[in-house]
Amino acid sequence: MVLLFMSDSDDPKVWAEALRAFEPDLQVRVWPDVGVAEEIEFALVWLPPPGMLAGLPGLKLIQSLGAGIDHIFSDPDLPRDVPVARLVDDELTRQMVEYVTLAVLSRHRRIDRYRRLQAERRWRPSRSVPLSASRVGVLGLGVIGAAVATALAGLGLAVAGWSRAPKQIDRVENFAGAERLDAFLARSDILVCLLPLTPETEGVLNARTLGALPEGAYVINVGRGGHVVEADLIAAIDGGHLSGAWLDVFRSEPLPSDHPFWSHPCVTVTPHVAALTEPASAAAQVIENIRRARRGREPLHRVDLSAGY
Ligand code: NAP
Ligand code: GLV
Repeated sequence: MVLLFMSDSDDPKVWAEALRAFEPDLQVRVWPDVGVAEEIEFALVWLPPPGMLAGLPGLKLIQSLGAGIDHIFSDPDLPRDVPVARLVDDELTRQMVEYVTLAVLSRHRRIDRYRRLQAERRWRPSRSVPLSASRVGVLGLGVIGAAVATALAGLGLAVAGWSRAPKQIDRVENFAGAERLDAFLARSDILVCLLPLTPETEGVLNARTLGALPEGAYVINVGRGGHVVEADLIAAIDGGHLSGAWLDVFRSEPLPSDHPFWSHPCVTVTPHVAALTEPASAAAQVIENIRRARRGREPLHRVDLSAGY
């Protein structure tokens, strides 16, 4: 028996249909209609409430309905003996490549400046610099970060990436480990955060690290809101060290209506939409994991609890 838990903006019926395209007889319940809790074997979740999974004693698999699993690992009562799997999905990666390319090119062509000039009805053309003069740094070179870095390098930008272990990616300079972070930041005019949120990466973008970026640098955060110390980011922009930020994720979502990001002239806000899971694309992988779990096999993309991602 499958239990679906997802955010209000997602429709569980669409997920149930996408799964039944592979297994027409699949039995699916939608939270809060759990029925007999002991019957639930597979929990397919996005942002489950803390304690929910601990109340399902028959669980064989916890499947994240997104790439990240911080929304599951943050539960202090998470049953630690049940495998947790995340999605690795081409459509999710494609959307992120599209979104980050948009943000990077908007910054490169100074669209924010032209928006401000438009509001003042001022015609002030300026020449753009060559793409190769824009140094982009991608924090996190995993499935999504590596694809983003490769796509940006393919456009001709000067791209580097930061990871825990050394990585070899064509046309992407690699900086690995905490000891290489400052050198990586010092050469990143446009910084893209695509890290998972873990105890090690929480608050990684703070007064010190933002200060290590070059004068006038720009920050794009599509990882998680917890990566940014928001007051430090605003101070770095208002103090003139950073030229602005493009943010898709926030410490508190939805972003509270009185949050200073909403009205800041140098900040672009989108409501956590950089890459959204498409059930039609991801269902095959979820079904495969359900079948593996039934046979007692390892799921695809099982997450290492000790690494936290
Ligand atoms: P992934 O494959 O797990 O890759 C994570 C990357 O981060 C790896 O390169 C890893 O290094 C690096 N990393 C982790 N901890 C590190 C540390 N302490 N120091 C340096 N590097 C570290 O993850 P993914 O599939 O690319 O997804 C990344 C994140 O994107 C997700 O966790 C999620 O938060 C976010 N996301 C956001 C959206 C959105 O709509 N905004 C959509 C999808 C995903 P190694 O390679 O050395 O292991
Ligand atoms: C979205 O944020 C995801 O982790 O898939």
